[in-house]
Order: sequence, then structure tokens, then C-alpha cells
Amino acid sequence: MAGRIPQHFIDDLVSRIDIVEVIDKRVPLKKAGRDYQACCPFHSEKTPSFTVSPEKQFYHCFGCGAHGTAIGFLMEYERMEFVEAIEELAQQAGVTVVREDEHGRPADAPRGDGNKALYAVLTQAADYYRQQLRSHPDAPRVIAYLKERGMSGEIARDFLIGYAPNGWDNLSKALGSQQEQALVQAGMLVEKEGGNRYDRFRDRLMFPIRDRRGRVIAFGGRVLPGADDKAAGAKYLNSPETPVFHKGNELYGLFEARQALRELPRLLVVEGYMDVVALAQHGVRYAVATLGTAVTVEHIEKLFRQSSEVVFCFDGDRAGRDAAWRGLENALPLMRDDRSLRFMFMPDGEDPDTLIRSIGQEAFEAQVRDAQSMDEFLIEQFKQRVDVRQIDGQARLVEMSRPMLGKLPPGVYRHKLLERLASLAQMPLAALEGMLQGKTAQETNRAAPSGQPQFSRAKAGRQSPSQVRHAISLLLQHPELARQVANPDALAPLQQPGIALLVEMLDLLQREPNLNTPALLEHWRGRDEAPHLFSLARQDMLLNAEQDDLADEFNGAIRGLQQQLLRQRHRQLSSKPLAELSSAERLEYQSLLREMQN
Ligand code: GTP
Ligand code: MN
Repeated sequence: MAGRIPQHFIDDLVSRIDIVEVIDKRVPLKKAGRDYQACCPFHSEKTPSFTVSPEKQFYHCFGCGAHGTAIGFLMEYERMEFVEAIEELAQQAGVTVVREDEHGRPADAPRGDGNKALYAVLTQAADYYRQQLRSHPDAPRVIAYLKERGMSGEIARDFLIGYAPNGWDNLSKALGSQQEQALVQAGMLVEKEGGNRYDRFRDRLMFPIRDRRGRVIAFGGRVLPGADDKAAGAKYLNSPETPVFHKGNELYGLFEARQALRELPRLLVVEGYMDVVALAQHGVRYAVATLGTAVTVEHIEKLFRQSSEVVFCFDGDRAGRDAAWRGLENALPLMRDDRSLRFMFMPDGEDPDTLIRSIGQEAFEAQVRDAQSMDEFLIEQFKQRVDVRQIDGQARLVEMSRPMLGKLPPGVYRHKLLERLASLAQMPLAALEGMLQGKTAQETNRAAPSGQPQFSRAKAGRQSPSQVRHAISLLLQHPELARQVANPDALAPLQQPGIALLVEMLDLLQREPNLNTPALLEHWRGRDEAPHLFSLARQDMLLNAEQDDLADEFNGAIRGLQQQLLRQRHRQLSSKPLAELSSAERLEYQSLLREMQN
């Protein structure tokens, strides 16, 4: 069956390929010192700021901030899915992609073959439903409904709209009973305990869902007017998750949009199947819909891979704004400076389908162009949740924005947002930044204008997180250093930002000592920390240092953290009255005192 690609295969592959070769084939590179350069393929420029490092095996553009490993490059440049990129790299390296089942055993058939039967029956089912829309005795009723909703025959054809007639065994009769097993696996037949099978979709308007390559992978089925309410069930019925369909990954209408437009000007994300189809009918061919789920990180990655401009279009009510907020939270880590995310809200009681019908394409697209920018939407939401004129308003604003800003990679967006927040809170930018780093307003005011760095407390506070950062960036650039740490898990209790990440990285590298920098970075694909890891891996501070110096640096940072851990435990124990300490804790306390003197 399907079979996943085991992580060790990906690790090996990434460690084996040369990113310079991969990129040079597509974007000719010129040697420049230690690195290679070209004009950036991700934004337009006249002087090259796109840099590929053979040493670190990743690319970075100083102009637009694009960055990544060889896998990331193929995903961005060739718009490949992760698995496609792996397959391409494997082919280039002359190795066969390994797949295994969920128990880690080698899968017997490669993915394509394993799912061939499912793709085949899904296509046949779509053909059958389209056929029924033309010839079934009930078809006139369905066609009348489509007409009433203003759907033309041309659009129905582009979207492969069909009709699933009433009945329990239509598909197996039409496709042949030998296909039943595949139909069950593809989610088209429901199988009861005892082996009874019947059609999942009955008397419904059918919307085939297609993947990037245009293969039918699932269906959405809408109830038809006049159906007996109780018997008909939910308004929309979707295919269940199957080996070829993962709801959180797919966007309805994406294939159709790419078919209709050679260059997508943008992607408009709406909520309903009918919205996508109605917008296309009225000339807006770049709309896609999630399949009755919230917008996931996978969706957003997919969207930005196709277009650098994404507009979320939601209901104007509370639920719509909450959905927009959740979408925004998922999008923040992916916001590079060359990408734009905007928000558009529907007037009360309208959805994109009804709105474009009443105001027409031109006025609708004018509203799309006027959609709120990401920072406007954020500021508006903050304003609604916090009253900055209140005494504690500033503090609450800082608390609310901290997690959002933390997800946003450094760059123009982050800066713009900081500026707007500062003006909203009516405080200087430096004071806001100080508060975000956990200092009080007075502390920042005292430290900032005098120009005199404050030692003692302030310095100790700042030094510790940077030790964690320092250790992480050394590890990223020289993964072999992980061998020096005897027991990484012992560091876990240290209350420092980033410590969990450091421990995770050390654990990983002790299990997989052969990972190089890009293979290590790939382990964080899709996670919030990924952009920060790239920027740490990029820092050139120690590139010229001797190997011995590096090891010293690294050991120094780790020892520093161990010392902090001792002090932290010491503080915990000494905050209790001596009488309340158990005898074990007293012994620990004494040995702590001894160790801290070393
Ligand atoms: P119309 O009502 O025909 O205009 O369709 P619509 O696409 O505008 O649907 P609506 O706005 O009611 O819902 C938006 C999307 O949510 C739909 O396209 C479905 O993906 C999903 N959805 C709506 N109702 C249901 C339901 O009852 N069950 C499931 N699973 N999904 C639903
Ligand atoms: Mn609707």
C-alpha cells in the first residue's frame, strides 16, 4: 500500500546531494569567493543577491529573504510537493526511493502503483456521475437547480460537476463488482460490519476534488432541494480520509485555477465549493476552498507555493473573524517579505457566491484589491481585544502581541507591525521592543537614553538566552559537536527560551550522528522555529575559527548552561525553609554548593 518514505532515507539523501548542482541546473550560478551567486529567481533584481553556500548546503537571498535546502529550493522553484522533491533528488542521485509501511517494514509496492487502482475507480466514478447528469431520469431536476443557481454548462464541465443518483449500489453496478474493494478504499462505498457495502453518495450534486496533477482524489456531495430532509442528512458530505485524500492538505479548485490561468495573479481562499464555482462562472478563476476545515499550515504552504499573493475571504461575522485569526496564526511563520497575505470579509448574510452575483466581477475584484493588509487586520483585532487607554492596556497589548511577533520571521513585516503596535500603544519603538523582551518600561527607559550598558541584572538576563542561541547555531553549522555533550536531557529543566529546542537537537544528533546541516534543518520543516534556525545557521561568526576553538566555544556554552541549571536548582531549594527540605534535598543542596564553586 501507500508507504511512507522513512526519515533515514531523507537524511541520507540530503547529506549526499550537492545543492550547487541542483540549483545550477535550473539557475546558472557564478562562483563568488566561497559561495556561488545568481540573480534571485524569487524576486526581480539586477545585481545578484541570491547566494548558495556549498559549505552549509543551503541558499539564501539577501534581497528578499528566500532561503532553504535543496528540497526547499525544488519545492519553491519547481512548485513541487515535498515527496516529489525527494523523488526528483533521488533520481538525480541515482538511488531508488525507499518506502515502508506503518510498522517500518519495507512497503511491497511503490506508492504510485499501490494507489493506481484507487485513482482509476475515482476517475471512473467521476465519469459515471457526469454521465448521469446528462441521462438519468432525475437529471432534469438537477439541471434545473444548476440553472437556478446560474451555473453554465461550460463551468459544470470545467469542474466535472456530476450527479450521484439515488440508490444503494449504483457504482458497483456501473463499474463492475470486481472494483468494489478499490471503491471501498477510495471512500466511495461504505462498508458495514459483516461486509455489507453501499454507495456513500446518493441523490447528491457531485463536486470532484482534484489534486495538483488533475487526478480525482475525492468528492464533495451537496444535498439537492426537495430531498426528504431526514433521509438526506448533512448539506455537504465529503469523502473520508483515504490513502489518496488528506483533507487538511487539499484545496478545492486549485487544479482548475491553474488550468484556467497561466499566471495566477493571486489566490483567493473562500469557504465553499459553490463559492469557487460561482466565482469562476463570473470570471474570477483564482478562487480555492478548504474542504470544510480550518486553514492549515499545509494549506498555506501550498498556497504560497503557487502564488506570492494570498487573500483570505471569510464571513464578516464573529466566526469568520475567528477563522481568519486562526488562519493568520498559521501563516505568520511563512511570511517572507516577498509574500503578501490579505483579508477580505463578506457583508452580513452574503457569501462570495451571492455577492458576485449581485455586484458583478468588476466590483467584486475591486473589493479583493481593497482587502485589508495583514498588519491592518492584526491591529484591528488587537484594538478590539484591548483598550490601550486603560492603565494595563499597554501591558496587555504586549502580552497579546508577543506570541504573534514570535512567530513572524525577522524582516519588513515584523518591523512594520512593531511600528504600528508602538504607535497604537503610544510608546517609543525601543520601549515596546524592550517590553517584548520581558523588561519593564522603566528599565528600558533607564537603559536606553543613557547609552551606558547596565551590568549586573540586565546583563545576566540577556546573557543566558544568547548562550542557548549560541549553542544552537554552533550545532547547526557543526553538527558533529553534539558528540561532546554527555547527557543532553539533563539540560531540559533549565528555564530558558530555546532550551527545549537545543535538547531536541542534541538528542537527535546523538541518535543520528551523520546528519549534516541541511539534513538537520529538514527535520524542522514546517515548524515555527524553522525560519529562526535558518537565520542562526547563516551567521558567519565562527567560520574561520579552528576546529579546536569551535569545540571550546561550544563546550563553554554548554558548561555555562549547566552552571545556570545548578543556580536555578539552588534558588529553588533555598526558597524553601531548611526545615521543609527532605534529607535527600539537603544532600543535594550541599553537593550543589560544592559544584557551584568549581
Ligand atoms: P451553498 O449552500 O450551496 O451555497 O454552498 P456553500 O458552498 O456556500 O456552502 P456553505 O457556505 O454552507 O458551507 C461552506 C463549506 O463548508 C461547504 O462548501 C462545505 O465544504 C462545508 N460544509 C457546509 N455544510 C457542511 C456539512 O453539513 N457537512 C460537512 N462535512 N461540510 C459542510
Ligand atoms: Mn453559499
